[in-house]
Amino acid sequence: MDTASFIRALPKAELHLHIEGTLEPEMMFELAERNGVDLPFATVDDVRAAYEFSDLQSFLDIYYQGAAVLVTEQDFYDLMFVYLERAAADGVRRAEIFFDPQTHTERGIGFPVFMDGFTRAIDDARDRWGISADLILCFLRHLPGEAAIETWHQAVPYADRIIGVGLDSGEVGNPPERFAEAYRLAGDAGLHAVAHAGEEGPPAYIIGALDTLGAERIDHGVRCSDDPELVERLAADRIPLTMCPLSNVKLRVFDRLEDHNLKDLLDRGVLVTINSDDPAYFGGYVLSNYLAIAEALDLNRDDLVTLARNSIEATFLTAPEKAGLLAEIDAVAAGG
Ligand code: ADE
Ligand code: ZN
Repeated sequence: MDTASFIRALPKAELHLHIEGTLEPEMMFELAERNGVDLPFATVDDVRAAYEFSDLQSFLDIYYQGAAVLVTEQDFYDLMFVYLERAAADGVRRAEIFFDPQTHTERGIGFPVFMDGFTRAIDDARDRWGISADLILCFLRHLPGEAAIETWHQAVPYADRIIGVGLDSGEVGNPPERFAEAYRLAGDAGLHAVAHAGEEGPPAYIIGALDTLGAERIDHGVRCSDDPELVERLAADRIPLTMCPLSNVKLRVFDRLEDHNLKDLLDRGVLVTINSDDPAYFGGYVLSNYLAIAEALDLNRDDLVTLARNSIEATFLTAPEKAGLLAEIDAVAAGG
């Protein structure tokens, strides 16, 4: 079996995926036309040409602009359904998917519109391809803590369709502590907690996310390597890092994939996982991320099996659900 077929056959979870980041330029144009939204681009090629980023903020500016074409419940349905079809084709069996409500509520599009679209697509995709998916509500960290609390109150009627809260958007200068109250409210309602930290920001933001927000996973976390004690803590406590190799190169966190610290952290016992972040913008879905990093860092099949196992262990599935998927991974590994 070639490497791509082997990776595809391994049951995997995708744990770091922004649904708004799956908006391909073709769909952006289709929805812009459907909704009468003006785009600052003339063609799909112009859009792709604009995807040259110098850092996280240069990407976010375009990403928030793109999301403006999402207007109706059907738009959110289509976005989610197409992503889940794509993920299932890559061998993703479980997806825990970020969405950014404030990007939509700020434009006057309310929770009923996007939540009904997302959940209807998730239910249809489960029936169609057997893929399991749940939603993680992300607070935008460039906005005030009070805005996150207000967003949480708006989300409460939908809390049974949301498994966790997260924190995303521009990291540097926006440490996690401001969001402690919003996370406390979500935690009291029984939701899980994750947070972007250590993508561009310092190790102190990872520590803040763990200790102040109660984050159970760290999204990205690549900058933990600047603090060897933190790396030891992450490994000892089995705190997952949801890494996104193609994203890190596109946003210039690393100059080249060959410089990525994923393998080093794996060898140090950190529970590293591979994910696609915003695949429409960064040039590849989850299988492409596995393939690219495997090639760049010379990962062998044992490493790939470990990464797939890690992705399942890091989910918020129940122990029996995890055991079932891990057994399937073992069967593929034994046969591959
Ligand atoms: N929103 C979408 N993608 C993001 C990323 N990689 N970091 C922070 N916020 C984001
Ligand atoms: Zn992200």
